[in-house]
Amino acid sequence: MTPHANPLRDPQDRRLPRIAGPSSLVIFGVTGDLSRKKLMPAVYDLANRGLLPPGFSLVGFARRDWADEDFAQVVHDAVKEHARTPFREEVWNQLAEGFRFVPGDFDDDTAFAKLRKTIEELDEVRGTGGNYAFYLSIPPKFFSTVIGQLKEHGLAEQEGGSWRRVVVEKPFGTDLATARQLNAVVSEVFAQESVFRIDHYLGKETVQNILAFRFSNAMFEPVWNCNYVDHVQITMAEDIGIGGRAGYYDGIGAARDVIQNHLLQLLALTAMEEPASFDADALAAEKTKVLGAVRLPKDLGRDTVRAQYTAGWQGGAKAVGYLEEEGTDPDSKTDTYAAIKLGIDNRRWAGVPFYLRTGKRLGRRVTEIAVVFQRAPHSPFDTTATEELGSNAIVIRVQPDEGVTVRFGSKVPGTSMEIRDVSMDFAYGESFTESSPEAYERLILDVLLGDSNLFPRTEEVELSWKILDPIEEYWDKNGKPARYQAGTWGPVEADEMLERDGRSWRRP
Ligand code: BG6
Repeated sequence: MTPHANPLRDPQDRRLPRIAGPSSLVIFGVTGDLSRKKLMPAVYDLANRGLLPPGFSLVGFARRDWADEDFAQVVHDAVKEHARTPFREEVWNQLAEGFRFVPGDFDDDTAFAKLRKTIEELDEVRGTGGNYAFYLSIPPKFFSTVIGQLKEHGLAEQEGGSWRRVVVEKPFGTDLATARQLNAVVSEVFAQESVFRIDHYLGKETVQNILAFRFSNAMFEPVWNCNYVDHVQITMAEDIGIGGRAGYYDGIGAARDVIQNHLLQLLALTAMEEPASFDADALAAEKTKVLGAVRLPKDLGRDTVRAQYTAGWQGGAKAVGYLEEEGTDPDSKTDTYAAIKLGIDNRRWAGVPFYLRTGKRLGRRVTEIAVVFQRAPHSPFDTTATEELGSNAIVIRVQPDEGVTVRFGSKVPGTSMEIRDVSMDFAYGESFTESSPEAYERLILDVLLGDSNLFPRTEEVELSWKILDPIEEYWDKNGKPARYQAGTWGPVEADEMLERDGRSWRRP
């Protein structure tokens, strides 16, 4: 036994695959993009990896005149196009036997009665054991209707040892007030441990690795604080525009779309204290604590920037400006880029700014967390020797090039002393033979297993809106978004924001 093994804490060998027990997954909004591109392929990939039980069943619910076979065909095409793992006929055939489709509107009682009958039949024929996960991949305005229907039709109540869980896709509201309303609707019917709010960033391998990196090693945590860190930059850059999503995106914008959830979760994982254990409760407690300590800048005009892309070039192709995208309001003030400086009021992070930025149609797709260190307190070298030496940094590369980089200074070979930045790289692709599962594979499996570690709690969602609301209000009242050309790294205003602090954005 290793000195750290605690048999009371390790009832099960964690190296064994975690396989879901008998269950059905019901997807509302099954005709949507998310379902086709992410959920259906993830279900197949899980089956292909042997992580679903043999009788696992997938039920689609939507307003389409489809038979089970039509639904199966749609899943088949989605899997062929988007699955991560190779298509295997025998896996597909077994999985497809458990596909059912229930046509109907969300307010249609008959359809919900049919849904109940369908899943109960699956219990009989495929042994799904009365265990149902309901996945709401639908606009939030329909949440209360669907949740009400599940309650009315006796589908929300756990009985005789079986479980009922609900999976809620973002957006969890558009501000604190709407998030609270939504939470009230959900918690009236489902207990906290049965509600799984998806933030797909938490399902990413590299995001889970933040805690492994920080807390399973001895050499990083001692410098992970205001004594050594100068600032932290969290970047989520996308090269895509808004595609066909104007209906959702216009009026919402980049900050609500991804800062409120993904980026603040990344901040929480980067800045939180070590949890007492890896339990959902212990993790949530630490994340909640650090989100509660986040402080907004005093001058929101100085330390936040929002902007909109104008026409430009991307990947050799012409890209239209945001206001020319199909479906956007020509006078829209929606931000497609947002940069925000935050502080954290605790002993570990006193005085260390956290700069968050995100944008659509930026130079390239990259998400990373860069912890940038202070300069060495003293240098025995001539200033000319260190002219090209930057700050030390640890960069957690979330995507697409998954890994961690440590940047430090090194002597340039030669007869004089000249010091320049070099980097030491860990790349997933080189260190591991397994490829990273898609976030949705991990998250759907966790829902079926009832493991809520990777799902944000109500408190985290509400605290994140508390951080964002004053910024959105300020933007709303003050002028128009800045501009940046598609294919560039954002507006000059964001560069100026960091220059005023004597810093600059990384160019990943
Ligand atoms: C979603 C946002 O949550 O995340 C999208 O709504 C964004 O606007 C997407 O494009 C990015 O996800 P990923 O995993 O590609 O970084």
